[in-house]
This record gives sequence, C-alpha cells and structure tokens, in this order.
Amino acid sequence: MSTHQKALVLPIKQGTFELHSVPIPTPGPGQLLVRMHAVALNPVDWKVQARGILVEDYPFILGTDNAGTVEVIGEEVYGFSKGDRVFTQGTFESTHGGFQQYALFNASVTAKIPENLTFEQAATIPVGLGTAVLGLYTPRTPEDIECGSAQLTAPWDSDGRGIYAGRPFVVLGASSSVGQYALQLARLSGFSPIIVTASLHHTDYLKSLGATHVVDRHLPFEALRSNLAAITSKPFEVIFDAVSLPDTQSVAYDLLAPGGCLVLVLFPAITLIANKRIAKVFGQVNFPPENLEVGVSLYKVLPELLAEGAIQPNRVEVIPGGLGGIRAGLDRLKNDTVSGVKLVVRSQETA
Ligand SMILES: NC(=O)c1ccc[n+]([C@@H]2O[C@H](COP(=O)([O-])OP(=O)(O)OC[C@H]3O[C@@H](n4cnc5c(N)ncnc54)[C@H](OP(=O)(O)O)[C@@H]3O)[C@@H](O)[C@H]2O)c1
Repeated sequence: MSTHQKALVLPIKQGTFELHSVPIPTPGPGQLLVRMHAVALNPVDWKVQARGILVEDYPFILGTDNAGTVEVIGEEVYGFSKGDRVFTQGTFESTHGGFQQYALFNASVTAKIPENLTFEQAATIPVGLGTAVLGLYTPRTPEDIECGSAQLTAPWDSDGRGIYAGRPFVVLGASSSVGQYALQLARLSGFSPIIVTASLHHTDYLKSLGATHVVDRHLPFEALRSNLAAITSKPFEVIFDAVSLPDTQSVAYDLLAPGGCLVLVLFPAITLIANKRIAKVFGQVNFPPENLEVGVSLYKVLPELLAEGAIQPNRVEVIPGGLGGIRAGLDRLKNDTVSGVKLVVRSQETA
C-alpha cells in the first residue's frame, strides 16, 4: 500500500481549497483506516472555508459524511473485517476528514453498509440523520443551548417505535437533508399528522418518506398558520426547524404550543418565552459523551433500519471530478441552489 494519497486541503483559514499529496494516516486503538469511496458535501464545509469558523489548526482536511471499505483495523476494534463496506461521521480532525482518499473512522460510530445501499447513498446519512437524531432523542437538559434535544424516546429504545402516535409533528424545510431524516424519524416515532414545509415539487417524494401533509414553504405566515389549523387542532408540541434562519425560527416559535420544544439547527435568533423550550442541536455523534452514547446506539441499529427501508438515504447527485469537484459543489450549496438532493463525490475518481 502506498504511503501517500490525494486530499483536498484547506491550507489556511479562509484560504482556497487545493489538491495535495498527504500521508495516509495510521489507525490508533478503536479506529479503522478506510479507503474512501464516497463523501457527501454539507453546508458546514463551505461555512468553515468562507467564514473561518470551527477550525483553528491549518492546513485542514474537511469532510464529515464518509463511506468506503475497511483497509486496516486498529487495536481494540471488534466486528469489522478488511473489505467491509462502512460509513461514519467525520470528527473535525484532518485524519478523519472525508475530503481525502483514506480516512480514519471511529469504530464505535461506524456501521456496515447494507447490500441495498450504494456507497454514495450511505454517504448521505451520517450528518443529516445524526443531527436529526441528536436533536430529538438525546437525554440532554433543554437548558443546554449548545447541545440541546427535545428529549424524546428513540424509536429503537424498548417500546419506542410508534410511541408518539396521535401527536402532531412539524418539520420546516423537510426537503433539506436534515429535514428528510427528521421527517422519517417522526414517522418511526409514530407522530401523526406529520406536516412539513417544502417547495411543492417535492410533495410526492416527501409523502413517500412519511409526510402526511406538505405545505408550500413560500406561503406567508398567516396562510401557513391557517393551513396547519385546517389540518389539526391539536397543539404542536414538537417542531423541527431544519432551516433555522431568523424568519423560519420566528414562524416555528409562534406555532409552538406552550410547554413544547422547538429544535433548531442554527443558533437561536428569537426572543425566548419562559414556557416554550428551544433545543439547538449539536449534530456530531463522536462528542461530547452524551452525543457519543446516542451515536453508538444509533450506529448499532442503523444497518437493520436501512436494510428494512425504515430509513431511506437522501437522493444523490454525484459531482464529477472526484475530490477536485468539491469546490464547485460547495459553491452550489453556498448559493442555495441545491434542492432535495445530497451532493456526493467519488473520492477515488480524483484526477
Ligand atoms: N447544528 C448542527 O450541528 C447542524 C448539522 C447539520 C446541518 N446544520 C445546518 O442545517 C441547515 C440545513 O442543512 P442541510 O444539509 O440539511 O441543508 P440542505 O440539504 O443543503 O438544504 C437545502 C434545502 O433547504 C430548503 N430550504 C432553504 N430555505 C428554506 C426555507 N426558508 N424554508 C424551507 N426550506 C428551505 C430547500 O428547500 P426547497 O428545495 O424545498 O425549496 C432545499 O431543499 C444548514 O444551515 C446547516 O448548516 C446544522
């Protein structure tokens, strides 16, 4: 095996991505070295590059939606063999970044890819699903604004499947990657009706994932409110705002019932009221420990949930050019021109 590989490196804070040859990392205890086949792009990737957030040590290798085959197994790793098809969430360390051809995976939050999924489909799952799961099912205190959760019972806990039957659930921005997974989790948890907002050309697709009602995301607030009131008179105790821009936050918070919980994927931009909770999710299954605990239980059940079709991956759009195609893909995410698909790169196609 060669000692070096191709990687898309961010050389300095707010610099320009460059293709470099870098050493292939060595797995430590609890880690796998994985030959990357597919990596999906996320909004955080362009935000780190453009805004200089989250990362302090450069040069840096991004990429947190990672799928490939096991190449080398570190010490204290059990249950994996060389050649296994696996996926995980990257940890925001260069050795674990997916924008390279070989990356380290933490074995406790790595799952085998079931036969019904491609590498590209598997790569759409870790960040989007992890964020939705952590925002709904982590047993955190709601006051923890950095790392909040609605503190629901997960569908894979004992008696968890269908436990919230008869209670409504709202997802704003359900055609986003995170939104698609939040919607599917709501279905597994039994919520009904599941009312989502999106551009209406996604209606059939979102209904196939479990939405009972799809409402045009471009409606003004009063029209949205009356649409929802016509669907159900029950209180909205859980709302997942997968967009979390100031205007969607304020709409969601207004719709939320007293005592309810609004899950946000970005920091709160609204004035809080005492009897309406907000949970700003930290969508990382590797840390802190409370997230890791939920992540480990999620990755244990994931292969089965995916094999039985209980959770569907996002739809995939493959970007040509391997790692060299990432820059153009991130520009599309930044310009908000990606709709209802996940952009994925095939790592080994890099020129
Ligand atoms: N807190 C965390 O740890 C965490 C983790 C992951 C993601 N995030 C954040 O979550 C957000 C979503 O990420 P993502 O990867 O899921 O995004 P994405 O898939 O790229 O989102 C694109 C979708 O957003 C929808 N959208 C845009 N503006 C909307 C609005 N005003 N109302 C309703 N839908 C709207 C579009 O809907 P239509 O096509 O239907 O028009 C489009 O399908 C990003 O800001 C990301 O940074 C946070």
